[in-house]
Amino acid sequence: MISNSITEGLNGNPNIPGDKSISHRSIIIPSISNGICEISNLLKSEDVLHTLNAFKAMGVKIDEYDNKIIVYGNGLNSLKEPKNEIYLGNSGTSARLLTGLLSSQKFNSILTGDDSLSKRPMKRISEPLSKMSAHIQTLNGCMPLKIFGNVNLVPNTIDLKIPSAQIKSGILLASLNTEGKTCVSENRNTRDHTEIMLKSFGANIEIKKIDDKKIINIIGKKELVSKNINVPNDFSSSAFFIVAALINYNSFLTLKNINNNPTRNGLILALKKMGANISFINKRLSNDENVCDIEVTSSNLHGCELGPDIADLMIDEYPILAIAAAFAKSPSIFRGLKELRVKESDRLKLILLNLQNCGVKSEIKDDDLYIFPSKDYKILNNIIETEYDHRIAMAFAIMGTKIGPLKIKDAESINTSFPNFKNELNNVGGRIL
Ligand code: S3P
Repeated sequence: MISNSITEGLNGNPNIPGDKSISHRSIIIPSISNGICEISNLLKSEDVLHTLNAFKAMGVKIDEYDNKIIVYGNGLNSLKEPKNEIYLGNSGTSARLLTGLLSSQKFNSILTGDDSLSKRPMKRISEPLSKMSAHIQTLNGCMPLKIFGNVNLVPNTIDLKIPSAQIKSGILLASLNTEGKTCVSENRNTRDHTEIMLKSFGANIEIKKIDDKKIINIIGKKELVSKNINVPNDFSSSAFFIVAALINYNSFLTLKNINNNPTRNGLILALKKMGANISFINKRLSNDENVCDIEVTSSNLHGCELGPDIADLMIDEYPILAIAAAFAKSPSIFRGLKELRVKESDRLKLILLNLQNCGVKSEIKDDDLYIFPSKDYKILNNIIETEYDHRIAMAFAIMGTKIGPLKIKDAESINTSFPNFKNELNNVGGRIL
């Protein structure tokens, strides 16, 4: 449990940790490439460490030297059968990406997770993979997953029914060790870190836009060549500080070296629509990813209406966007949030419950969230339910900077993505105990 109280403004230069999505891929892709990869700024959070330990368990030499992680890759077929089940904790990204990768290996494996991960849907990855003849057993659609490896999967054309970078990436990783051309088509854009890294490691990958569809063609069995990686800082983690600075008076924060990949920047589009004062400076490329510094100043926000199309570009940011909306001058409606129900928790349910407990009038109709802000909130229950969801915990810790003290239950979940969150917030004027 952490407890958070009202601040008098947030000022400074908080350190945002390395990007979680890119960190997972920075372990996975070099582990099946040829050569040595030195990774700087890897996020050492619980989720990423589960991915790292999984590859160590499959015989990959991974060392730490001079604050860098060194991965010694030996090619597409170099992974060894793990002696035990692979435990992935709370990490959905590890589960979906590894399911794809392991379905095209020469050995069988079993993936398990914590209580929360064990409730999340896994047929969304096993079913499209079965179109390539992959053999994966689920327990009623959930973990544990038993994966029967096969180095002769059959390439296919797979139309993604659910907009999900995890599913897309799982299929792309399976196709790397599959003879022939696998084609993945996406109707709605999701984060493209896997495609960017595979391309830079020399995969035989071609990406086309046809009408509104993105088509990814990949020809397997081509060995990848390792490169060093400098992981940029995580935009999703920076989002808590961006909103914290916007809603608190007398605040000015600078967030350095943030990944601003256009497939992840929906929150910025939304906040700009709400009148946020945010600037992007020092825009540059690093490992083919867009990176910049972000400056945020206290702003008088107004509400906005967002359609489902933007949801894929900011799927992890709705908990903190809801907090911004609670301090705007006018109501907000966020539509098409079905995918939020199958994240680390049912985020839609928890956003509503906790907003209402904080006294914020809000409702859900179908999969749309309505928030009706007011000038003063009368807290009905200051205990925040998180169901071990890191993003709910951090979002309501930021709510606490305005109306605290709030007590955040199971706040250890924050270690899955941002272990130093509390210190970083306190260093810029937060008051978390
Ligand atoms: C992720 C993709 C997203 C996101 C998750 C990380 C990734 O999930 O919610 O936190 O690293 O690929 P979906 O792609 O399933 O929406």
